[in-house]
Formats: sequence, structure tokens, C-alpha cells
Amino acid sequence: MSEFNNEPNYNPSDNEPFSAILERSWSRRHVMKGGLGLAAVTLLGGFGLANAATRSSEQGARAINTGIALDFDSLPGSKTDAVVVPAGYTASVLAPWGTPLNDNASAWKPDGSNTASDQLNSVGMHHDGMHFFAIAGRSDDGILVINNEYIDQDALHPSGATSDASGKRPADEVRKEINAHGVSAVRITRVDGQWRVSERDPLNRRFTTATVMALSGPMAETDHVKTAFSKDGTLARGTNNNCGNGYTPWGTYLTCEENWPDVFVNRAATLPADQQRIDIPTDETRFGWETAAGDSSEENGEFARFDLTPRGASASDDYRNEANTFGYIVEIDPFDASQRAVKRTALGRFRHEGCWPGKVEAGKPVVFYTGHDARFEYIYKFVSNANWEPADAEPADRLAIGAKYMDDGTLYVARFNDDGSGEWLALTPSAPTRGGSTLGEELGELPEIILNTAHAADLVGATPMDRPEWGTVDPINGDVYMTLTNNDERGPEELNAANPRPTNVNGQIIRWRENDGQDGFRWNIFVFGADAKAMAEINRSGLTPANQFASPDGLAFDNRGILWIQTDNGGNAVAKDTNNQMLAVVPANLGAQNGRPGVIDAESQSQLKRFLVGPNDSEVTGFAATPDNTSIFINIQHPGNWPYSDDASEAVPQGTQVRPRASTVVIQKTDGGPIGV
Ligand code: FEO
Ligand code: CA
Ligand code: CA
Repeated sequence: MSEFNNEPNYNPSDNEPFSAILERSWSRRHVMKGGLGLAAVTLLGGFGLANAATRSSEQGARAINTGIALDFDSLPGSKTDAVVVPAGYTASVLAPWGTPLNDNASAWKPDGSNTASDQLNSVGMHHDGMHFFAIAGRSDDGILVINNEYIDQDALHPSGATSDASGKRPADEVRKEINAHGVSAVRITRVDGQWRVSERDPLNRRFTTATVMALSGPMAETDHVKTAFSKDGTLARGTNNNCGNGYTPWGTYLTCEENWPDVFVNRAATLPADQQRIDIPTDETRFGWETAAGDSSEENGEFARFDLTPRGASASDDYRNEANTFGYIVEIDPFDASQRAVKRTALGRFRHEGCWPGKVEAGKPVVFYTGHDARFEYIYKFVSNANWEPADAEPADRLAIGAKYMDDGTLYVARFNDDGSGEWLALTPSAPTRGGSTLGEELGELPEIILNTAHAADLVGATPMDRPEWGTVDPINGDVYMTLTNNDERGPEELNAANPRPTNVNGQIIRWRENDGQDGFRWNIFVFGADAKAMAEINRSGLTPANQFASPDGLAFDNRGILWIQTDNGGNAVAKDTNNQMLAVVPANLGAQNGRPGVIDAESQSQLKRFLVGPNDSEVTGFAATPDNTSIFINIQHPGNWPYSDDASEAVPQGTQVRPRASTVVIQKTDGGPIGV
């Protein structure tokens, strides 16, 4: 089962249920390879979009010829301990949990006995979002940066999690868990058609829940983030529950902190308002890391920091503010291992699923979309104050460019009106609230608004959504798509046009196009997830057994305009017929409706095809591709009994149980051609 497939509703607000081309083509840039001294390499991580401008979404009747045609038969559902791909394709295991990244790690052991130090120097657990950073524009050499969202304690340790009679957990067991979270940067190369991890590459890197990172943007150096560890509020320790991801036009990776509140506890009589709104636990934490506090080996409060209960004379004497250093978008420079990760606090503080760049144009602001994954939470966008300068695609200092475009700007939250229009509502001190005051009067200055971003969004009247997960931008026309994975608590009285089904166990994908000026947008629903046998009111897109899906989660356009949809479903009717899956569709091929590409309906839904089915109990997530699209990478998270061999499609024999390992899976064609076409 997935993590929090039934995500709790943390939003107590009474908000009414209101009725580009992305220039991902990084140009050539010269960078210094971290750890390799002064060796300069040329990178072209990019996507060729040369023919995009010749395409139009307004070409009259249905059936536009984009030149991209999906050339595989939609797979039947599958319920096996194997990855299933179409005929003519291979699926191979790459960089599974525990793969050593340097000489400080022992090889992964199938009995769970690797140490905390091994884990610190190996690939983390439960892979999620990721990105492929091509080196010198190559499609056979690059850095795969992978989120490691959370852990399976039963698989991580020889006999699961342990504790003593008083409930204290062993320090080294906790350290191993902390080290299994975070992000893994892995140099990979393809030789003779086989991808391999370069196990000693100096660009290999781990970020864990303990790695020291910089705080930047409005929260940095404020009283909100001063702790006993960082009395000046400039540093944080670790990133946690890194779910979806993003990347920037200047060549960096973005990792996103989602279910971080649950590793903290606050036993004070009254919690600060932001901790109440984000639902910091008041009784126990998810893994009990704080119980190891006081161990003779503890350094710098490495375990005590997970207990937010005020104990000292001031915030600089305890960890009451530790949780204020989580809930952000974190920027990583994959090409320079000497650089700290940076928490970009201007993009808001909540359960961030991911962060996706919008259309990038010279002389215009840089935009990032981000969503809060919990029931009835919101969709946001950040707009930079600085206007994009194309020379910044080739910076000498990538993180300085990150500061330029991500530390200063305006955060907005979305309102979806029932007439198909939408508005971006600013989250600034002068922004009007629904009650006739301003956010400044209600919450304070910008740091106080960021600290409790979700409540600021309540106050201005954002639309509560059915759990926003991933977003992506169509490289052909700049349309933004976002998955709304499910919301089984939406009642009949809470429906609106953007979230129109009660007890929504199936989810939908919403799509919008920005107005000129970026203050609003036009939206519609691209596809509704559903069981093929469901009544028409539920199966609104007319899905069939060949493409039925539910709980869309991962979502990514490749550089050709193919939209890949991944699912994190469990327990509903679709799950009876198939494991989680990845489907493909080319929206631009669906013709034009009111000047926009069509939606999935009875006429077009045969163009939505099932490309891959995952192993039993797993979620299919994460998407990356080589520049030439001859290799695509996906992640299999929380499998039950997989993998059996390097061949991801080899089923575990009946009666055999393996220690499950989340893993990247690389998909290639046996003829070496581009994927999907
Ligand atoms: Fe970690 Fe919202 O999925
Ligand atoms: Ca997700
Ligand atoms: Ca999910």
C-alpha cells in the first residue's frame, strides 16, 4: 500500500468550495565538476524543441498530426511480482536501495544487516521523484538524482524496528533510518546498451535527514528558524519525506518536503498556530527517532531535535523551532558536490509534493508550480521578481542563480471558478482576505505568512482540491497539468466544477493555461480516473479495461509532448484488475476543442494507453529520460516481493520471498530506438 493513500484532512478552514513552452532546453554551459578539481565539462541536458513552434493547438477538427504517434499496444492489467512492459522493450533494475556510492559502504546484504554508515554511503530507500542530468548532452552518461521518500522498517533492519522496555530505540537503528531518507545523486553510464552505476564517482552524493543545509529566502535568519544547532537561523539539518521533484532552467535539482510533520512531536499544552494547521503530532512520532535522545553517543541533539516541546530558556536553547526548518523546496547543484543544498523558503511551507517550472521566456519572470498533498489543500505558484535572462542558463554559480530567481518573488494560491476561469491570489502582507482585512493584519509580515502558508491560503479564499500531487508543463503549448489523486472525504455539499465527484476514490487530472499577465487562467479537467465498469457519472472519460486507472500521482511530459501518467492506487475497483501503472498520451494529438487540445473522452480515449504495470504492492513514480528518449527511468516504490534479478520483468518464482528493494527501472527498446513511438 502506498504511503498515506488516504491522506488525512488537515485543513479546518471553512473556505467555500468555489464553484510555454517550457524552455527545458538548457543551452550549452560550462561547469566545474565537483570533486574533480578544475576539469570543465560541457553539458547539454536538454530537450530539442525546435519544431514545437510550428505546432498549434488550434488546428480545427480533432486529430492533429504532431508527428508523435504512440506505437505500442495498450497492456492488459497485471498483478504479478514483476514489471511489465510492451513487446520489444526491456526493463532493468538500476540503483536499487542499498547500492554503494563510494568505498565507505559495504555491498548491500540481503539479511538487512548493513550499518548506518553503509546506508549513509549508499542509495537511500523508497525512491520517488528524480531527474536525469545529462553530462555534455550525452544520452549515455549522466547524474540521476533520486528522492528517497520514506522507509520500510521491516525491510531496512534484520527484524524490523526494535526498542527497549522503556520504548527507547537504539541509536544506530535510528541513524540508519535517518540515513535511508533524503536524496541520492548517482552517476550512471550506459555501455553496450547496459546502464550501470559508477560506484566511486565523485559526483555520487547523499543528502539525508541529518545533512547540513542552508536556509535562504524570507525565513532565513528570522527568529522562527533559530535553534540550538543554528543560533543565527542560517542552517537546517536534513531534508525529509522527499516526494515529487523539480528542476530549474539553470541546471539544478529541486527536492520537495512532503510528509515531514510526522517525524516531529510537540507535547506542549498549546501548539503554535502553524503546527496546528499542518498537524504536528502531539503524542508520538512516526518512527520514534526522538526516543534515542540522551543516548551516550548522541551528538548535537541529533535525536532530541525531533521533540519540539519547549524546554530551554529561549528558542536558541532547544529545538522548538526545528520543524520550522522543514516544509520547503530544496535546491541541489548536482554538478558540484562541494555545494550545500539550499532551502528556498520563498516558495512556501507546507506538505510540498513537488515543484515544476513553467514557461521560461526572456524578459519575463520565472514561474514554479507546487501543490500541497493533503485532502482539501491547495495549488500554488511562485513568480520571481527578476526577469529571465537567457545567459543565466549557463551560470558559473548555479546556486547564485537559484537565489536570484527563487529567493525574491511572490507566492500565489489558486482559486478555480466554476465557469472555467481561475485566479491567482497573492500571499503577501497587503493581500486582502475574505473577511475584509489583510494577510498582514491577520498573520504579520512575509515570514509569518510563509510559516503558515496553508492558513494564509485559507484566509484569501483558495479552492480546496482533491489532494494535489504532481504537475507538469506541456512543451508544445505551455499548458499546466496537475494530478488530483483522490479525496474520499469530499462530501456532496462540497463539490465544485474542479472537484466534482463525491467520495472521490479515483482522482482526476486538471489542466490550465495562463492568461497574459499571469494573474489568472482558464482550466478544464483533462481526464477522470475510474473503473471501466463504473457508471457514466463516475467514469466520465469513458475509460476501458485497456486504460482504466485510479489515483493518478506522478505526471510528466517528455520533451516530445508525450504525457506520462503514473498511479498510486490501492483498495478500489481498479486495483482488483491491475497493479499500479504508467500510461501515455499525446494531448496535442487529441485535436482542438475551444482552441485547446481535446480531453480524454469517448472519441479520443483510445489514445490513452497503458505502457507499464508495476509489481504487486508497489507504486509507480518518478520520471526521467535521456535527451534522445532512448532510455526512460521510472521508480518502483514499496514493492512487496521484488526485484528477483537485474531483469525487472523477471517475476519472483511462486513461493519465494525476497527482501523488497525500491529501485529505479530503466526502460529501453531492444532496437535502441526512442521510447513509446
Ligand atoms: Fe508522497 Fe503525495 O505522495
Ligand atoms: Ca506522490
Ligand atoms: Ca500518492
